[in-house]
Amino acid sequence: MSVNKEIKKVTASQIRKMKLDGEKISVLTAYDYTMARILDASGVDILLVGDSAGNVFAGYETTLPMTLDHMIYHTASVARGTKRAMVLADLPFGEYQGKADDAYKAAVRMMKESNAQAVKLEGGTEIIDNIRLIVNAGIPVCGHLGLTPQSINQLGGFGLRAKETKESEKLKSDAKALQEAGCFAIVLEKVPAKLAAEVSDELDIPIIGIGAGNGCDGQVLVVNDMLGMTKDFKPKFLRQYLQLYDEISGAAKEYIKDVKSGNYPSEKEQY
Ligand code: KIV
Repeated sequence: MSVNKEIKKVTASQIRKMKLDGEKISVLTAYDYTMARILDASGVDILLVGDSAGNVFAGYETTLPMTLDHMIYHTASVARGTKRAMVLADLPFGEYQGKADDAYKAAVRMMKESNAQAVKLEGGTEIIDNIRLIVNAGIPVCGHLGLTPQSINQLGGFGLRAKETKESEKLKSDAKALQEAGCFAIVLEKVPAKLAAEVSDELDIPIIGIGAGNGCDGQVLVVNDMLGMTKDFKPKFLRQYLQLYDEISGAAKEYIKDVKSGNYPSEKEQY
């Protein structure tokens, strides 16, 4: 199935309808205006302004240092470059895990200052009251379960989650709780394909997978990874559609050579 060109702006209800219609949902991350324009014009359904910006944009080892101001800056840049796709913004670590009122205020600030259409929060029943408050304020919320990078210090690593029955049962009940609290979708990161397919079948809301197999209702990838810019990052689930690291490096080397040799600019390239 190709891009539905009749949709002028993708909304939370259209995302839910895609699941009903059996249309797979395409999601890519974006962090800046130029990339957002390209991806949006290509027809991606959701642009996720992930706090993975902390890794691929800012060079932090984890997503924990990202602040609400950082995320608003990235999201507003993406929103300015986006016409059709839904702009979904991550709320960063520390802004929504505590008091419900603080979570609500962070979500409202994101919506007011960035022009996002929805927010994403990591976690299940522990933050369910906070999610309910945000949903009740009219803000579409996407959940995030499985590997939740904001809890990396508790999880102890970026490996596969929910391999054992206890964790997979908790994941299933968290997913149901998120649906009941009003989430319009859930991201499932790095869990066994069989479990992700079961959750997708059992829930009415779409499940967007990353490293969660083909039984999900949609897929998300970090754009820098799928373009092959993060050369040494090659987890099993990643498909690299370009080798942009090598392309960019090759172009930069050519440019340097031309400048050093006096070959650039030529007569045609000057005033
Ligand atoms: O921050 C992010 O990019 C994400 C995706 C990996 C789902 O949360």
